[in-house]
Amino acid sequence: MSAGITIALSKGKLLPPTLALFRQAGYAAYHVDESDRRLIVEFPEHGHRVLIVRPSDVPVYVEYGAADLGVVGKDVLLEQSPDVYEPVDLGLGVCRLVVAKPNGQSPAQRLSSKIRVATKYPNITERFFNQQGLPVELIKLYGSIELAPLVGLADRIVDLVETGETLKANHLVEEEIIAASSARLIVNRASLKLKHAVLTEVIARIKKQVTKAQAVSAAKKGRRG
Ligand code: PRP
Repeated sequence: MSAGITIALSKGKLLPPTLALFRQAGYAAYHVDESDRRLIVEFPEHGHRVLIVRPSDVPVYVEYGAADLGVVGKDVLLEQSPDVYEPVDLGLGVCRLVVAKPNGQSPAQRLSSKIRVATKYPNITERFFNQQGLPVELIKLYGSIELAPLVGLADRIVDLVETGETLKANHLVEEEIIAASSARLIVNRASLKLKHAVLTEVIARIKKQVTKAQAVSAAKKGRRG
């Protein structure tokens, strides 16, 4: 068994594909049942201790060194700008951060006054509208963002879109794409020096598996196209 490391994984949608990726990368024990309520799961055969945390908390655990490694969406990293190393795009949880508005509303309708924007991403939103020179009033929400324009709480939303089904079901349309997002492997900077051998091995194994999965997916697309 190698020297122990701690890995913070995002719970929710990203957890099952992340566990599958680690298994495919050679960490066969990576199984966590959906009904499992433990917050720390040990995989002694690999020398790994996994913390199951909210996606927005993953960078905090890694930046402070409570975890050596983490898996989290680029959306969260863009919002928090943590001081961590980000060596691998895992290609999981692919989605985009967009500005959306009610279907049929003309863009000019609101430009004369401050636009109200509801979002879970106040920093990204403020940066984006500042760059456009548009004054905005930010309304920070924690979920179901698409509801805000439907009840007059906001003129626009900034949120993640994956399939587009949630926007469509709530009569909203994409106005602009702010950024693409996918899950990233992040690493604590000090850990990378102190546990260099073991961490570079995990990073290399994950990178190799991601490259392999991308090649398989490109070949499949090639056969179809
Ligand atoms: C996310 C996101 C959108 C939805 C997009 O919400 O905030 O609401 O998924 O997915 P779609 O384009 O495939 O419809 P999540 O399920 O994480 O819940 P939330 O309301 O708590 O943000």
